[in-house]
Amino acid sequence: MYIKEIEIVNFRNYNNVKINLHDKINIIYGNNASGKTNLLESIYVLGLTKSHRSFIDNNLIKNGCDFFRLTGSLKKDDIVYNLEISNNHHKKIKIDNKEINKMSDYISKMNIIIFYPEDLEIIKGSPAIRRNFLDLELSQLYSNYYNILSEYNRLLKMRNERLKNDQTSNYQYFQILTDYLIERAIMIYKMRQKIVTKINEYCPKIYEDLTGNKGFKIKYKPNINFPSNKDMKDYLFNLYQKNYLKELKFGKTIIGPHLDDIEFYLGDINLKHYGSQGQQRIAIIAIKLAEIEIFKSYKNDTPILLLDDVFSELDISKRNNLIKYIDGNLQTIITTTDLESFDDNDDNIIKNSKIIKVDNGKIIEK
Ligand SMILES: Nc1ncnc2c1ncn2[C@@H]1O[C@H](COP(=O)(O)OP(=O)(O)OP(=O)(O)O)[C@@H](O)[C@H]1O
Ligand SMILES: [Mg+2]
Repeated sequence: MYIKEIEIVNFRNYNNVKINLHDKINIIYGNNASGKTNLLESIYVLGLTKSHRSFIDNNLIKNGCDFFRLTGSLKKDDIVYNLEISNNHHKKIKIDNKEINKMSDYISKMNIIIFYPEDLEIIKGSPAIRRNFLDLELSQLYSNYYNILSEYNRLLKMRNERLKNDQTSNYQYFQILTDYLIERAIMIYKMRQKIVTKINEYCPKIYEDLTGNKGFKIKYKPNINFPSNKDMKDYLFNLYQKNYLKELKFGKTIIGPHLDDIEFYLGDINLKHYGSQGQQRIAIIAIKLAEIEIFKSYKNDTPILLLDDVFSELDISKRNNLIKYIDGNLQTIITTTDLESFDDNDDNIIKNSKIIKVDNGKIIEK
């Protein structure tokens, strides 16, 4: 799939611009604060209805204006869909001019994979960020994952409230909560296990293509280590019973997938603790590129790839390897402050790409 055209009205530092996009590589360049990230963000918001970098929708409206509107045409399976999102006191989404009430109908149309500098936190930051990363992946691939996870979180909250307020005296009710929680915990565990295995099918080879180094992989670190010879449900049930008094003391649920983590390894080296900034960056890029492969195998289509400022910290050979990897493969929109960084070796890239200059909220297409 790819976006043919996007119109941006009153969004961030843009008044009203219309941009035609290439179905392969688009390079957006301009000085700092010219509006490159804003442009990528507009595509992300058009597809997914919310921003990857701001929880507050009103921040997206251009200062001094009272609404924003984004419209774009998306080509997918030889059909063109006209998508529109506007925010004028409330959010409105439309496909082909028809208002859509069910959010999932809208966001399933356009699939986006984004890499932006803050993604380094997936390696460097807290386990919650890594769980969130896995959950996002899984929600995009399996339509029921989001519901299972929401149910788990709701049950966890109810269970925690009882433990915290010492309200487990209705033990039967508490047991039912625990049973329901266990069922969902097992499903989450199995799906997380599956996606990590899937990512590992692709990412060692991608990491090697980008860097020449073998041995990159991610490891799922589930909070519960299920023994292979025992029934999962029974095992968890006993585990919760064993920990009941401890849980009462802490006033919360102390075992379960809400405490899972993942780790990133190059051979035996844990990249969180020993990786250089560049190694961490490439590791995340390799995983994002693996996501593309997984997506292709599940959906038989390519997502749209947004790369914000990836090149600034990569050396020339890794930059070229990355470009080679994505070239011609899928629609990619790249931002950079420095166009020269693209023609070190491979000036075909520039020739075959669409170059879009951004200057203080104005667009100059070449
Ligand atoms: N709601 C808004 N209204 C008006 N301007 C905004 C709004 N939100 C952000 N801006 C401005 O948009 C400008 C461009 O931001 P953007 O993040 O797109 O820059 P950039 O080109 O990606 O820069 P860099 O190279 O530093 O990453 C900034 O000066 C910012 O203050
Ligand atoms: Mg930027």
